[in-house]
Amino acid sequence: MPVDTMSYETLLVGIADQVATITVNRPDKRNALNAAVRREVVEALDALRANPEVRVVVITGAGEKAFIAGADIGEFAERTPLEQRQAMEGRRLFEEIAAFPKPTIAMINGFALGGGCEVALACDLRIAARSARLGQPEVKLGILPGGGSTQRLPRLVGLGRALRLILTGEAITAEEAERIGLVDQVVDDMELAERTGALARLIAGYSPVTLKLIKDAVRATMEMPLSAGLQYERELFVTAFASEDRSEGVRAFLEKRAPEFQGR
Ligand code: COA
Repeated sequence: MPVDTMSYETLLVGIADQVATITVNRPDKRNALNAAVRREVVEALDALRANPEVRVVVITGAGEKAFIAGADIGEFAERTPLEQRQAMEGRRLFEEIAAFPKPTIAMINGFALGGGCEVALACDLRIAARSARLGQPEVKLGILPGGGSTQRLPRLVGLGRALRLILTGEAITAEEAERIGLVDQVVDDMELAERTGALARLIAGYSPVTLKLIKDAVRATMEMPLSAGLQYERELFVTAFASEDRSEGVRAFLEKRAPEFQGR
């Protein structure tokens, strides 16, 4: 069982085996994103970024029904446009997750709608329970996704499929999400925690230096033309050569033993 290391009003945060789990803990409201959740996720990420014991972060929702059912509709219902603009300024959880230097996994245990789907999109990996449902229902409320989905969803699943999800607002099953590439893996509900833990621990066993460089290199495809990205990859590849972990990884292979990566 993860050990609670920090206390939050809307989150549970635990660390075990170098894997931190952030659980959005508003099951009565289907873990909807209100201002407190948004602020606390950013605070939790700050703490986990600085913690050398943490190599991978899993994000999930409390209860059996929802991962995150989107923005808290009650909270923004009465806002003026200026108030909404103010709420969207400053550090935003979607961008903080996307820019987080350690690998992130969305463990999708139920409804991932609107901002919930966008949290999942901002993560590096997405693993879903078979009963999960994913979608961008904003159109039904007379708004559009504002947490990055109009940009990240087409990059992940292609223009046509992204537009279908955003224009219809219809949620899709975990299996369909896997088929179109919106989630990487679907597992039986009962196995979700275990399979996610195994995936997270596998990745956490590698060098944190390498993991950071890999994320940096792959995420550059979102920002750079191919030739600049390839150049960037070469530079990062050479940077990895400067790490003690590279020496340890190669030595361990030659000595036929498991490497012990120190993150240096
Ligand atoms: N914001 C605020 N409250 C929300 C919410 C959201 N996004 N999603 C669910 N809730 C609240 C409900 O208002 C309800 O509160 P109440 O008990 O005080 O009335 C509670 O969570 C349970 O919701 P309910 O609809 O009864 O649960 P369900 O299991 O039958 O359905 C959903 C779950 C997720 C399908 C449904 O709640 C839903 O469609 N939510 C809105 C999703 C959405 O449009 N998100 C995008 C927002 S931009």
